[in-house]
Amino acid sequence: MGLRVAVGGKGGSGKTTVSVLLAKVLAEDGQKVLLVDLDSDPNLANALGIPPAAASPLVHRRDLVAERTGSTGEPGGMFILNPRVSDLIGTHAVRCTDRVALLPIGAIEAAGEGCFCPQTAFVRALVRNLVLEKDESVILDLEAGLEAFGRSAVEGLDLLLVVVEPGMRSVETAKRILGMVPALGIRNVRIVANKIRAGSRPALFRRLAEERLTADITLGYSEELALRDLEGGSIFRHADAEFEKGARTVLGSL
Ligand SMILES: Nc1ncnc2c1ncn2[C@@H]1O[C@H](COP(=O)(O)OP(=O)(O)OP(=O)(O)O)[C@@H](O)[C@H]1O
Ligand SMILES: [Mg+2]
Repeated sequence: MGLRVAVGGKGGSGKTTVSVLLAKVLAEDGQKVLLVDLDSDPNLANALGIPPAAASPLVHRRDLVAERTGSTGEPGGMFILNPRVSDLIGTHAVRCTDRVALLPIGAIEAAGEGCFCPQTAFVRALVRNLVLEKDESVILDLEAGLEAFGRSAVEGLDLLLVVVEPGMRSVETAKRILGMVPALGIRNVRIVANKIRAGSRPALFRRLAEERLTADITLGYSEELALRDLEGGSIFRHADAEFEKGARTVLGSL
Protein backbone atom coordinates (compact mmCIF):
# COMPACT_ATOMS: atom_id res chain seq x y z
CA MET A 1 0.00 0.00 0.00
CA GLY A 2 1.19 3.51 -0.71
CA LEU A 3 1.76 5.92 2.16
CA ARG A 4 1.13 9.58 2.69
CA VAL A 5 4.08 11.02 4.59
CA ALA A 6 4.86 14.62 5.55
CA VAL A 7 8.23 15.94 6.71
CA GLY A 8 8.24 18.93 9.05
CA GLY A 9 10.59 20.72 11.42
CA LYS A 10 12.49 23.90 11.98
CA GLY A 11 13.87 25.88 9.04
CA GLY A 12 17.13 24.37 7.81
CA SER A 13 16.87 21.24 9.98
CA GLY A 14 16.93 18.98 6.92
CA LYS A 15 13.30 18.45 5.82
CA THR A 16 14.14 18.51 2.13
CA THR A 17 17.18 16.26 2.58
CA VAL A 18 15.14 13.75 4.60
CA SER A 19 12.28 13.86 2.04
CA VAL A 20 14.66 12.96 -0.80
CA LEU A 21 16.46 10.21 1.10
CA LEU A 22 13.14 8.71 2.23
CA ALA A 23 11.99 8.70 -1.41
CA LYS A 24 15.15 6.80 -2.27
CA VAL A 25 14.41 4.14 0.37
CA LEU A 26 10.79 3.75 -0.77
CA ALA A 27 11.85 3.54 -4.42
CA GLU A 28 14.48 0.92 -3.62
CA ASP A 29 11.73 -1.07 -1.91
CA GLY A 30 9.67 -1.05 -5.09
CA GLN A 31 7.34 1.91 -4.46
CA LYS A 32 6.58 4.72 -6.84
CA VAL A 33 7.04 8.04 -5.05
CA LEU A 34 5.61 11.49 -5.66
CA LEU A 35 7.72 14.09 -3.88
CA VAL A 36 5.65 17.22 -3.28
CA ASP A 37 7.27 20.58 -2.56
CA LEU A 38 4.91 22.61 -0.36
CA ASP A 39 7.45 25.23 0.67
CA SER A 40 7.13 28.89 -0.22
CA ASP A 41 10.91 28.82 -0.59
CA PRO A 42 11.09 25.65 -2.67
CA ASN A 43 14.35 23.74 -2.97
CA LEU A 44 13.32 20.16 -3.49
CA ALA A 45 14.06 20.46 -7.23
CA ASN A 46 17.55 21.64 -6.39
CA ALA A 47 18.12 18.65 -4.10
CA LEU A 48 17.06 16.37 -6.95
CA GLY A 49 19.39 18.07 -9.43
CA ILE A 50 16.44 19.47 -11.44
CA PRO A 51 16.94 23.01 -12.78
CA PRO A 52 14.53 25.35 -10.95
CA ALA A 53 13.15 26.59 -14.27
CA ALA A 54 11.93 23.05 -15.01
CA ALA A 55 10.02 22.92 -11.72
CA SER A 56 8.46 26.30 -11.11
CA PRO A 57 5.83 26.18 -8.33
CA LEU A 58 2.29 25.69 -9.65
CA VAL A 59 0.90 28.16 -7.12
CA HIS A 60 2.77 30.95 -8.89
CA ARG A 61 1.26 30.05 -12.28
CA ARG A 62 -1.27 32.85 -12.41
CA ASP A 63 -2.79 31.56 -15.65
CA LEU A 64 -3.33 28.10 -14.18
CA VAL A 65 -4.70 29.34 -10.84
CA ALA A 66 -7.04 31.73 -12.68
CA GLU A 67 -8.20 29.07 -15.13
CA ARG A 68 -8.95 26.54 -12.38
CA THR A 69 -10.43 28.82 -9.73
CA GLY A 70 -12.22 31.20 -12.06
CA SER A 71 -10.55 34.07 -10.23
CA THR A 72 -10.02 37.31 -12.08
CA GLY A 73 -7.28 38.31 -9.64
CA GLU A 74 -9.45 41.12 -8.25
CA PRO A 75 -8.96 41.36 -4.48
CA GLY A 76 -12.13 40.09 -2.80
CA GLY A 77 -13.43 38.67 -6.09
CA MET A 78 -15.31 35.39 -6.43
CA PHE A 79 -13.51 32.12 -7.01
CA ILE A 80 -14.21 28.38 -6.94
CA LEU A 81 -13.45 26.94 -3.51
CA ASN A 82 -12.78 23.40 -4.66
CA PRO A 83 -11.31 23.68 -8.14
CA ARG A 84 -10.74 20.68 -10.41
CA VAL A 85 -7.06 19.82 -10.23
CA SER A 86 -6.78 16.02 -10.44
CA ASP A 87 -5.27 16.10 -13.95
CA LEU A 88 -2.39 18.36 -12.90
CA ILE A 89 -0.19 15.62 -11.43
CA GLY A 90 -0.14 13.93 -14.81
CA THR A 91 0.64 17.11 -16.67
CA HIS A 92 2.97 18.90 -14.24
CA ALA A 93 4.92 16.28 -12.27
CA VAL A 94 8.60 16.27 -13.23
CA ARG A 95 10.12 12.81 -13.56
CA CYS A 96 13.32 12.25 -11.54
CA THR A 97 13.89 8.51 -11.92
CA ASP A 98 11.67 5.76 -13.31
CA ARG A 99 9.99 5.49 -9.90
CA VAL A 100 10.28 9.02 -8.47
CA ALA A 101 8.61 12.24 -9.64
CA LEU A 102 8.45 15.77 -8.23
CA LEU A 103 5.31 17.90 -8.02
CA PRO A 104 6.34 21.51 -7.33
CA ILE A 105 3.24 23.03 -5.74
CA GLY A 106 4.86 25.68 -3.52
CA ALA A 107 3.01 27.93 -1.11
CA ILE A 108 2.26 31.60 -0.98
CA GLU A 109 4.20 33.50 1.60
CA ALA A 110 2.43 34.63 4.76
CA ALA A 111 -0.65 32.54 3.99
CA GLY A 112 -1.76 32.15 7.58
CA GLU A 113 -4.84 30.31 8.71
CA GLY A 114 -7.00 33.34 8.11
CA CYS A 115 -5.90 33.86 4.52
CA PHE A 116 -8.21 32.31 2.01
CA CYS A 117 -7.55 33.32 -1.54
CA PRO A 118 -7.61 31.60 -4.96
CA GLN A 119 -4.04 30.37 -4.46
CA THR A 120 -4.81 28.70 -1.12
CA ALA A 121 -7.95 27.09 -2.58
CA PHE A 122 -5.82 25.82 -5.45
CA VAL A 123 -3.11 24.40 -3.15
CA ARG A 124 -5.64 22.77 -0.82
CA ALA A 125 -7.44 21.13 -3.71
CA LEU A 126 -4.16 19.85 -5.13
CA VAL A 127 -2.95 18.41 -1.82
CA ARG A 128 -6.33 16.77 -1.14
CA ASN A 129 -6.51 15.31 -4.62
CA LEU A 130 -3.13 13.63 -4.67
CA VAL A 131 -4.72 10.38 -5.77
CA LEU A 132 -2.32 7.53 -5.41
CA GLU A 133 -1.98 4.40 -7.42
CA LYS A 134 -1.43 1.14 -5.57
CA ASP A 135 2.22 1.03 -4.45
CA GLU A 136 2.61 4.77 -4.87
CA SER A 137 3.58 6.93 -1.91
CA VAL A 138 3.47 10.68 -1.45
CA ILE A 139 6.06 12.63 0.52
CA LEU A 140 5.13 16.20 1.40
CA ASP A 141 8.12 18.48 2.03
CA LEU A 142 6.47 21.02 4.33
CA GLU A 143 7.15 24.65 5.00
CA ALA A 144 9.48 25.35 7.93
CA GLY A 145 8.15 25.77 11.45
CA LEU A 146 4.47 25.58 12.26
CA GLU A 147 3.03 27.28 9.18
CA ALA A 148 1.90 24.08 7.52
CA PHE A 149 0.21 22.60 10.56
CA GLY A 150 -3.52 22.98 10.88
CA ARG A 151 -3.76 23.26 7.14
CA SER A 152 -4.88 20.69 4.60
CA ALA A 153 -1.29 19.49 4.16
CA VAL A 154 -1.53 17.29 7.21
CA GLU A 155 -4.98 15.80 6.59
CA GLY A 156 -5.08 12.02 6.22
CA LEU A 157 -1.39 11.48 6.88
CA ASP A 158 -0.07 8.00 7.54
CA LEU A 159 3.14 9.38 9.00
CA LEU A 160 4.58 12.71 10.10
CA LEU A 161 8.36 12.89 10.37
CA VAL A 162 9.66 15.73 12.52
CA VAL A 163 13.28 16.57 11.81
CA VAL A 164 15.55 17.82 14.59
CA GLU A 165 19.18 18.82 14.37
CA PRO A 166 21.63 19.28 17.24
CA GLY A 167 20.34 22.60 18.60
CA MET A 168 17.96 23.78 21.24
CA ARG A 169 15.77 25.73 18.83
CA SER A 170 15.06 22.79 16.56
CA VAL A 171 14.07 20.67 19.58
CA GLU A 172 11.76 23.49 20.74
CA THR A 173 10.10 23.67 17.30
CA ALA A 174 9.71 19.89 17.29
CA LYS A 175 8.04 20.06 20.72
CA ARG A 176 5.58 22.68 19.50
CA ILE A 177 4.76 20.60 16.42
CA LEU A 178 4.31 17.48 18.55
CA GLY A 179 2.01 19.46 20.83
CA MET A 180 -0.29 20.12 17.86
CA VAL A 181 -0.42 16.51 16.71
CA PRO A 182 -3.33 15.25 18.89
CA ALA A 183 -5.63 18.03 17.72
CA LEU A 184 -4.73 17.33 14.10
CA GLY A 185 -5.45 13.62 14.43
CA ILE A 186 -2.15 12.50 12.93
CA ARG A 187 -1.79 8.78 13.62
CA ASN A 188 1.95 8.19 13.50
CA VAL A 189 4.68 10.66 14.34
CA ARG A 190 8.38 9.85 14.39
CA ILE A 191 11.48 11.91 15.02
CA VAL A 192 14.43 12.13 12.66
CA ALA A 193 17.71 13.27 14.24
CA ASN A 194 19.73 14.89 11.46
CA LYS A 195 23.28 16.22 11.00
CA ILE A 196 24.52 13.83 13.67
CA ARG A 197 28.23 13.73 14.38
CA ALA A 198 29.92 11.51 16.94
CA GLY A 199 30.48 14.56 19.15
CA SER A 200 26.91 15.90 19.10
CA ARG A 201 25.03 12.60 19.19
CA PRO A 202 25.02 12.03 22.98
CA ALA A 203 24.06 15.64 23.75
CA LEU A 204 21.12 15.67 21.32
CA PHE A 205 19.88 12.27 22.40
CA ARG A 206 20.12 13.33 26.04
CA ARG A 207 18.22 16.54 25.27
CA LEU A 208 15.51 14.56 23.50
CA ALA A 209 15.31 12.11 26.42
CA GLU A 210 14.76 15.03 28.81
CA GLU A 211 11.70 15.84 26.72
CA ARG A 212 10.70 12.15 26.76
CA LEU A 213 11.45 11.94 23.06
CA THR A 214 13.56 9.46 21.14
CA ALA A 215 15.03 9.62 17.68
CA ASP A 216 13.48 6.92 15.53
CA ILE A 217 15.67 7.65 12.50
CA THR A 218 19.19 9.08 12.47
CA LEU A 219 20.94 10.75 9.55
CA GLY A 220 24.61 11.46 9.93
CA TYR A 221 26.25 14.77 9.12
CA SER A 222 27.87 14.46 5.71
CA GLU A 223 30.24 16.88 4.01
CA GLU A 224 29.07 15.42 0.73
CA LEU A 225 25.45 16.43 1.41
CA ALA A 226 26.50 19.94 2.37
CA LEU A 227 28.66 20.25 -0.74
CA ARG A 228 25.92 18.97 -3.07
CA ASP A 229 23.66 21.72 -1.75
CA LEU A 230 26.27 24.34 -2.57
CA GLU A 231 26.76 22.96 -6.06
CA GLY A 232 23.07 22.31 -6.74
CA GLY A 233 23.67 18.63 -7.43
CA SER A 234 21.29 15.76 -6.70
CA ILE A 235 21.50 14.09 -3.30
CA PHE A 236 19.30 11.19 -4.41
CA ARG A 237 22.17 8.69 -4.48
CA HIS A 238 23.44 9.59 -1.00
CA ALA A 239 23.76 6.42 1.08
CA ASP A 240 23.53 6.39 4.89
CA ALA A 241 23.09 2.88 6.27
CA GLU A 242 21.80 4.04 9.67
CA PHE A 243 19.19 6.30 8.07
CA GLU A 244 18.03 3.58 5.73
CA LYS A 245 17.75 1.02 8.51
CA GLY A 246 15.81 3.46 10.71
CA ALA A 247 13.51 4.47 7.87
CA ARG A 248 12.73 0.85 7.00
CA THR A 249 12.02 0.05 10.66
CA VAL A 250 9.63 3.01 10.90
CA LEU A 251 7.90 2.18 7.60
CA GLY A 252 7.57 -1.44 8.67
CA SER A 253 5.98 -0.42 11.97
CA LEU A 254 3.06 1.49 10.44
N1 LIG B 1 22.89 15.26 7.18
C1 LIG B 1 23.38 16.39 6.70
N2 LIG B 1 24.71 16.59 6.59
C2 LIG B 1 25.22 17.75 6.10
N3 LIG B 1 24.47 18.78 5.70
C3 LIG B 1 23.13 18.63 5.77
C4 LIG B 1 22.51 17.44 6.26
N4 LIG B 1 21.18 17.60 6.20
C5 LIG B 1 20.96 18.82 5.70
N5 LIG B 1 22.13 19.45 5.44
C6 LIG B 1 22.33 20.80 4.91
O1 LIG B 1 21.60 21.71 5.73
C7 LIG B 1 20.97 22.69 4.92
C8 LIG B 1 19.48 22.62 5.14
O2 LIG B 1 19.01 21.35 4.70
P1 LIG B 1 17.59 21.20 4.02
O3 LIG B 1 17.47 22.13 2.87
O4 LIG B 1 17.35 19.75 3.78
O5 LIG B 1 16.71 21.70 5.23
P2 LIG B 1 15.19 22.19 5.23
O6 LIG B 1 14.67 21.90 6.60
O7 LIG B 1 14.47 21.60 4.09
O8 LIG B 1 15.39 23.75 5.03
P3 LIG B 1 14.24 24.84 4.71
O9 LIG B 1 13.59 25.11 6.02
O10 LIG B 1 15.02 25.99 4.18
O11 LIG B 1 13.33 24.20 3.71
C9 LIG B 1 21.39 22.40 3.49
O12 LIG B 1 22.52 23.16 3.19
C10 LIG B 1 21.73 20.92 3.53
O13 LIG B 1 22.68 20.56 2.56
MG1 LIG C 1 13.38 22.56 2.56
